[in-house]
Amino acid sequence: INKESDSRGALIVLEGLDRCGKTTQCSRLLSHLEELGHSVESWRFPDRNTGVGQMISSYLANKSHLDDHAIHLLFSANRWEKRSLMESKLRSKTTLIVDRYSFSGVAFSSAKGLDLEWCKAPEKGLLAPDLVLYLDISPEKAAERGGYGDERYEQLEFQKKVAQSYRTLCDSTWKIIDATRPVEDVEKQLKQIVMECVLTCQKGKPLSQLWE
Ligand code: TYD
Repeated sequence: INKESDSRGALIVLEGLDRCGKTTQCSRLLSHLEELGHSVESWRFPDRNTGVGQMISSYLANKSHLDDHAIHLLFSANRWEKRSLMESKLRSKTTLIVDRYSFSGVAFSSAKGLDLEWCKAPEKGLLAPDLVLYLDISPEKAAERGGYGDERYEQLEFQKKVAQSYRTLCDSTWKIIDATRPVEDVEKQLKQIVMECVLTCQKGKPLSQLWE
């Protein structure tokens, strides 16, 4: 039975290696949904605007050093500080297109050698996405696209490890998208999958939590 109160916005996450094209696709999805008259917002993690976000930003820019566990927990805290706002947006029927989420958290930290279960633990209880769109590209191809900045993780050898970690996280909410295809093709494919998900949530689907 679809109770009226179960109608809500969809939580849609885009994941992938640096330079996979997530950010471009997020903004195209946002405009597409807006044009169709949906209530939608685009979010990203890390959210560098909060106090915690500023610590993360300085770490990523190599301006500060932090223990691997400590930075992992900061990334997680950065999601926790947005959790209640996230829930109220979804319940008020706003769809969220989110550029990176807990899967980045676990993939990047476990690529450094931290234990996978330890990495997942602080994410438990955050809202589970309705859909994870993984923009799949080999680390070598992503590196060829150029534009790796100067940030800490933007290096080929490290990205190879991240790609492996991502593979262990994939479950039935994931759709693997070939991100080496032309931008418009990827966009078309994403729009289709996203619309289906938005409609399902609109009809009514209970919210659930990550990794419990
Ligand atoms: P992001 O701001 O998406 O990168 P960009 O500067 O390319 O737009 O993310 C910054 C980096 O942080 C990226 O390499 C992935 C990493 N990251 C983590 O290590 N843990 C996390 O929880 C998240 C969300 C990102």
